[in-house]
Amino acid sequence: MQALQQAGLEIYSVRGKGYRLAHPFEMLDAETILAAVGEEARGKLHRLEVHHEIESTNAHLLTIAKQSDASAHACIAERQRAGRGRRGRQWVSPLGGNLYLSLLWRFQNGAGSLGGLSLAVAVAVMRALREIGLQSAGLKWPNDILVDGRKLAGILLELAGEAAGPCSVVVGLGLNVHGQSAEMATVDQPWTDLTSVLGHSVPRNVLAAQLLHHLINVLSEFETQGLTPFLGEWAAWDVLAGNEVTLYLPAGEVRGVARGVDENGALLLANDGKLHRYHSGEVSARIAPRSTGGCQ
Ligand code: BTN
Repeated sequence: MQALQQAGLEIYSVRGKGYRLAHPFEMLDAETILAAVGEEARGKLHRLEVHHEIESTNAHLLTIAKQSDASAHACIAERQRAGRGRRGRQWVSPLGGNLYLSLLWRFQNGAGSLGGLSLAVAVAVMRALREIGLQSAGLKWPNDILVDGRKLAGILLELAGEAAGPCSVVVGLGLNVHGQSAEMATVDQPWTDLTSVLGHSVPRNVLAAQLLHHLINVLSEFETQGLTPFLGEWAAWDVLAGNEVTLYLPAGEVRGVARGVDENGALLLANDGKLHRYHSGEVSARIAPRSTGGCQ
């Protein structure tokens, strides 16, 4: 019982009956996920691993990428001991009902062709979230998924391979599903979880299947078309557009009004009457409320 509590589960005792989970959750199951992923995506998915516990789903697939030419290889875990976030941060990954999902994909055209991939991945995640009934999420450049300014999901892309020639990308997604746990209380930025924003729980196996379905479709399309087919949805869900933002760069900070993204996914900032493009950096903004619903 103690081990389960240390792993992040909230457990209470019921007099005369034993113990009960404060927030019961459905365990992840490869067969159930595969049955719900859809025929086309299932045909493209080479392998799906479901782990009870792992260091990091991204780190695991990166090791595989360095040793082989594997592609369309997915890994999901109930818990990560060393979940990785962007900019070297930790991704708090307790047991108890969130999703930690990675997908390894091999691109034939080299890293140079991958500009904007992280934005396309965010569009895939938004499509899956909207399909399960979440209309209020928006995108914060480059790929944070927010609801009312609070982080619902984060995406981390990690690359294995050369700048020229085929390369492998591990797409990692952390999605807060049932966030209520002692470990999640240690997260030091505003966050929310799917159950709270929807007002009901969503079966995680169905959720994982929807996410894989859309990720596989988007990665396949990105290989041939690049970011272009996804720019319309990105713009419709962009929560920064029109807002004053501060962009933190290694060399200092710049301020401006966010004006969407260019065809390669670079952030466009207007200041001093000019439009500037930025390919990296960390944005902070007080976001004015706007509708994020208008995209088909
Ligand atoms: C972020 O900092 O916003 C990105 C977080 C990405 C977390 C996910 S959880 C699954 C995958 N494995 C990891 O170690 N990290 C990513």
